Amino acid sequence: MKLTKRLILANAATVIVPLLITALVALVYIYFIANFFGTEISYTSYQKLSEIRLELTGSQSRLLNNPEIIKQETFHAYLREQMANLNGEVIILKDDHLLFSSRNFSKIEIAKALEIADRSAPQPFSKEYLKVGNVQYNVEQITVPFPDATEGKILLLAPYDRAGQNFLNLLLLLSFTFLLSFLLTNIVISYQFSRRIVQPLQYLQKAAAEISKGNLDLAIAEEGDQEIQELCRALELMRLKLKESILTQLKYEDNRKMLVSSISHDLKTPVTTIKGYIEGILDGVANTPEKTDKYLKTVYHKARQVDQMIDDLLLYAKLDLKQLPFDFAPTDVAKYLEEFCAECEPELEQAGIKLTCVSQLSKKQILNLDRERMRRVFTNLLDNSRKYMDKPMKEIKITLRETPQSIVLEFRDNGAGISKEDLPHIFDRFYRSDQSRSEVKGSGLGLAIAKQIVEGHGGKIWAVSHGAEGTSILISLKKR
Ligand SMILES: Nc1ncnc2c1ncn2[C@@H]1O[C@H](COP(=O)(O)OP(=O)(O)O)[C@@H](O)[C@H]1O
Ligand SMILES: [Mg+2]
Repeated sequence: MKLTKRLILANAATVIVPLLITALVALVYIYFIANFFGTEISYTSYQKLSEIRLELTGSQSRLLNNPEIIKQETFHAYLREQMANLNGEVIILKDDHLLFSSRNFSKIEIAKALEIADRSAPQPFSKEYLKVGNVQYNVEQITVPFPDATEGKILLLAPYDRAGQNFLNLLLLLSFTFLLSFLLTNIVISYQFSRRIVQPLQYLQKAAAEISKGNLDLAIAEEGDQEIQELCRALELMRLKLKESILTQLKYEDNRKMLVSSISHDLKTPVTTIKGYIEGILDGVANTPEKTDKYLKTVYHKARQVDQMIDDLLLYAKLDLKQLPFDFAPTDVAKYLEEFCAECEPELEQAGIKLTCVSQLSKKQILNLDRERMRRVFTNLLDNSRKYMDKPMKEIKITLRETPQSIVLEFRDNGAGISKEDLPHIFDRFYRSDQSRSEVKGSGLGLAIAKQIVEGHGGKIWAVSHGAEGTSILISLKKR
């Protein structure tokens, strides 16, 4: 849920819930009173009384215009009738002299009524009733001034209304209920609301603390409202990125260590040889020009080997760190391969190897190639086929094929083949089969470099062993 929506709902609930509770309490109260006390709550009595009062005291009233009417019998009858509507009585006096009384009140009762009316005048809500028999009357007094400064009085006696009292009680109860439920709902909703926000925030805070401590393995789940979930997602993304960059960092570190140890080991061997031969020359062991020539040639050969190895290392390190940008150019693959074969053929022929190049493409296929680098891949593969050749009839066949999505190049030789154990590892840097290690010179970087370059082209490279019959190395490149 969105935070804004939750906020709106929470606010609405703080108003609606207390209203509902209050309505419910009102219903229960009314039901209770109506059923158990048999009284109906009505405000009509009060209303009627105030109507009569208004009629008598209002600016339009007959009484104000002509106070004399308090002596008229029609007026008495009118008032008696009005008050009878609410079971009330009326007493009319002039100068404390009784003019009319709708019921036979004793003098004491009348005096008491006057007293009550006088007393409650300044405090209209004071509860003082006139008790006559078993009826309690609410006394209201209307003073009628005469022009001669004398004074008439009309006492309106309304029986104390149980229902009216109930109504007042209900009003009080409902106000109290509303206030209380409003307060409680507010507290509950605020608590729930803050929990929905504070809990995920605390969780996030914990997660952030873990990250700052360096623990990047704690996945951050998406919790809470939408906005907080988004925050979680952003933090999780940050964690993954951070983890990735640290892993890459570690990988580079690892690479460097590996390179250093490997370089020192692989370079040490030829350099020791070089040192030995030069010492031989200096000490005069090479005492004939032929011997000196042989020694120097070996030294030269070894130095070239070292040079080649350093080149391989540098290239591999740069490719691995993605420091060398590729220089792609649209290239006709069949033509490119043909040119490459033509170039290599003489040298291979001299070494007694038969090279065949076949293109099975139905039409011209243009690929984006970094020609320089791809040449490096091809030479590395031919180089391996040459190095690990053990048959008298040496053959290498390069075939160009296509699938619906890609172009596949196969370099097949009839050499020694690759054992099952070595097959999964030959593309790893510095990996060399035990046999190669002891018999053939190499850095173990040729295929690792080839893999980096092919993958740099968005392609794949893999090996298929034909047992002792030879090896196929396959390269697939996506069509344009
Ligand atoms: N055509 C092949 N025939 C047999 N074995 C091969 C062939 N190509 C690669 N290998 C094996 O894979 C290993 C890794 O090859 P490579 O990365 O080029 O390193 P290197 O040639 O320096 O040994 C080689 O040591 C060899 O054992
Ligand atoms: Mg090699």
